Amino acid sequence: MRSGPGVAGQKWSARRYAETAHFVPALGAPVLELLAPSAREHILDLGCGGVLTEKIATAGATVVAVDAAPEMVAAARARGIDARVMPGQNLTFDGEFDAVFSNAALHWMRPPEDVLAGVLRALRPGGRFVAEMGGHNNTAAIIVALSAVLARRGLDAHRINPWYFPSAAAYRSKLEEAGFAVADIRIVPRPTVLPTSIEAWLDTFAGAFFGALPERDRSPARAEVADLLRPVLMDETGTWIADYVRLRFRATLPG
Ligand code: BEZ
Repeated sequence: MRSGPGVAGQKWSARRYAETAHFVPALGAPVLELLAPSAREHILDLGCGGVLTEKIATAGATVVAVDAAPEMVAAARARGIDARVMPGQNLTFDGEFDAVFSNAALHWMRPPEDVLAGVLRALRPGGRFVAEMGGHNNTAAIIVALSAVLARRGLDAHRINPWYFPSAAAYRSKLEEAGFAVADIRIVPRPTVLPTSIEAWLDTFAGAFFGALPERDRSPARAEVADLLRPVLMDETGTWIADYVRLRFRATLPG
């Protein structure tokens, strides 16, 4: 859900994503409810996961899905979804959609201004933009641990960090500056049980950080990040619970 053209070191595997991140669409019910798709609507899914795209189609809407990662698009097509390779920063649609939807994808797409301009262009007047993404403080402990471990090796993780986790106030301003009217925007803390270890999560999502290290340093660095996080994110039963914080919103293009 996925990177724009410029997220170095982050590699997407549809199989690994399905194994380690199936909770992402599974926890998407609130944002789907906020979208409230209806029959005959034409909806763009920005960052196609597949599962939620299918649920939108089940409501009777026609859905087009886009993603910057060819492998994720291929996986969506294999499920029968009309999916296209297109980075969120370079959307080429023009007044075609009743709604643009996105779950757990916008935080990979910088600069947000380019994404918002493309979403606005893609909507018909009166159309809506409904999305959920990582919000301010999302995975804060993980980011601090990554920063500490990379700093030990002379690297500034904040220069490498591909993620954009805005506050509600900051993103409201971005939406309004782009031309949207914001109907609802909120931060929702959502501690998230991981189906796997933190190491598997790091392999799936944090490739940009480890990709900045020489190959021989990656595995020891990953173990150090896990060691720092274990007392904070692992509960007494041995389950990893990541410190997710969502930003969920509904905005409209004035008609
Ligand atoms: C998220 O969905 O919140 C997320 C995804 C990748 C990295 C960090 C956070």
